[in-house]
Amino acid sequence: MCGIIGVTGRPSAVADIVAGLRRLEYRGYDSAGVVAQAGDRLGVVKRAGKLDRLVEALDGSPLEGAVGIGHTRWATHGAPNDENAHPHLDPTGRVAVVHNGIIENYRALRAELDGAVFASETDTEVVAHLVARELDASDGPDLLEAVRRVVGRLEGAYALCVMSDREPGTIVVARQQAPLIVAARDGVGFCASDVAALIEHTDTCAALLDGQIARVRAGAVEVVDADGAPAEPDTYRVDWDLSAAEKQGYEHFMLKEIHEQPTAVRETLLGHDDGAGNVLLDDLRIDPAVLARVDKVFILAAGTSLHAGMVGKLAIEHWAGVPVDVEVASEFRYRDPIVDARTLVIAYSQSGETIDTIAAAEHARDQGAPVIAVSNVVGSTLARMADGVLHTRAGPEVAVASTKAFTTQIVAGLLLGLYLAQRRDRLFPSEAADVLERLAVLPDLVRRVVEDDAAIVAAAERFRDVGYTMFIGRHGGLPIAYEGALKLKEVSYLHAEAFPAGEMKHGPIALIEPGALVVAVAPDDHVFPKLVSNVQEVRARGAAVLAVATEGSRAALEPHADVVLTVPDAPLELATPVLTVLPLQLYAYHVAVLRGADVDQPRNLAKTVTVE
Ligand code: M6R
Repeated sequence: MCGIIGVTGRPSAVADIVAGLRRLEYRGYDSAGVVAQAGDRLGVVKRAGKLDRLVEALDGSPLEGAVGIGHTRWATHGAPNDENAHPHLDPTGRVAVVHNGIIENYRALRAELDGAVFASETDTEVVAHLVARELDASDGPDLLEAVRRVVGRLEGAYALCVMSDREPGTIVVARQQAPLIVAARDGVGFCASDVAALIEHTDTCAALLDGQIARVRAGAVEVVDADGAPAEPDTYRVDWDLSAAEKQGYEHFMLKEIHEQPTAVRETLLGHDDGAGNVLLDDLRIDPAVLARVDKVFILAAGTSLHAGMVGKLAIEHWAGVPVDVEVASEFRYRDPIVDARTLVIAYSQSGETIDTIAAAEHARDQGAPVIAVSNVVGSTLARMADGVLHTRAGPEVAVASTKAFTTQIVAGLLLGLYLAQRRDRLFPSEAADVLERLAVLPDLVRRVVEDDAAIVAAAERFRDVGYTMFIGRHGGLPIAYEGALKLKEVSYLHAEAFPAGEMKHGPIALIEPGALVVAVAPDDHVFPKLVSNVQEVRARGAAVLAVATEGSRAALEPHADVVLTVPDAPLELATPVLTVLPLQLYAYHVAVLRGADVDQPRNLAKTVTVE
């Protein structure tokens, strides 16, 4: 969840580190810090709070050095204060460490360092102590060897960057279940949590694999495995540039990313239609015969990706005729899921780094299930561990609140449903061609919605102070109700919950009283008449109703709702969620802005959740 970066071989590494931290801040923003080496000593500046506080401190007390490492923190062990901010140093100030992850056995390791004085409550600081002790060992190991010996004793997850004043110009990095990339270009060496931090320097990098350790120097990277033998990381190129990682005139990344959805949806659809009614998923790499034999599918995911997976379930069951369970990834491996070689696992993750989702997918794979990753990040851990990948092509998503990843994940789920149906002889090419042709109009429909938000802004102004909002939906509207509630709560901090509309009468309707707001996701689909009855039930009990309609359902809804937000009719019912979610993304955004919330960096959250 934290962001880490190291740079060596630049006249002022600190400026590059701060620029990189700015692009990693979405990973956590409880504190930020940097260490650099000028001459024979390490200089450290670190501050609780967002990166701007570190920048202010550096303005007052500049830090020089051609080599340095930096960190932006999402607190796990210890409060978000100056002391617990990274980097952490050993007591002599000669070894500095930044870390993303959790060292689970840090207490035992601390206890071994009898008499050592620790300056923080973190799990990380012990690593600096241990590396310093190794460097003092009688056989005189270099920094790479010292770090190798130490990580061999660590339990848990880590991406570590370590430097020492004894080896100026060198950064040693190590990875275990937390993302870490390295790169070398034009006489400079880099390491970072992800490529967004380095995109202005290079579009080619190498992802370390679990257990690998690397020595990063000016213009050179050397990788070894846990035994110290030369090893190969996974080299890849990204197909986006710096402008994609910047706000480009939008007030917030969330708004920019909402507006990028027409392009993101178009890109995700591209290249999967052979023109003869066959869905092409070239990176899937799973034997078609295996897919034909599948008798059960688990979709595993967290948060917004979970909601996209719920739409994927509808598509796969409808077209491919195989039962699908959608599971909260963090629960999956702690029960006894029935998984075998005829079970297909589809793991959805924008980042491809969510530890809950990766661990759940690994658990299923260990029992013989083939795994497909639906990921937005090329080279992500999930994409690399899976047997096959379907990449969403949303481009980098920076805002903590996921938007364009969601709509592209829905599109990916539709493509997977069609693809599986064809492998299982459930769909003629002419039928698939018809669906693909209809889907091709989706990007333009998405554009129409996001470019006209006047009615949504008016709704946000009207309901901005409603303390409790209940979202309801049925069938394809239900995942959108869940997603709408998640968006509102995470960016505006207003209490919001979602329920299947038909469940209201079994309990939740007791919460309705005058002053409550019910958001009904009510497209013109086969469950619309039932949903209208549910809307009438809550309105009769005094709730205000904000409905999301399609053109086909608008007239029927108007008598029963206080406000109706209308999106175009979708080209097919299963694609409707791509459109109905858009007003709810914009509604959450505008409510949050009106309430003065920090839209792109909501409290307590981080974009990429690499801890359990
Ligand atoms: O990167 P992932 O898709 O695996 O992330 C999963 C969730 O952490 C993520 O969707 C989260 O719920 C977002 N903040 C939602 O906006």
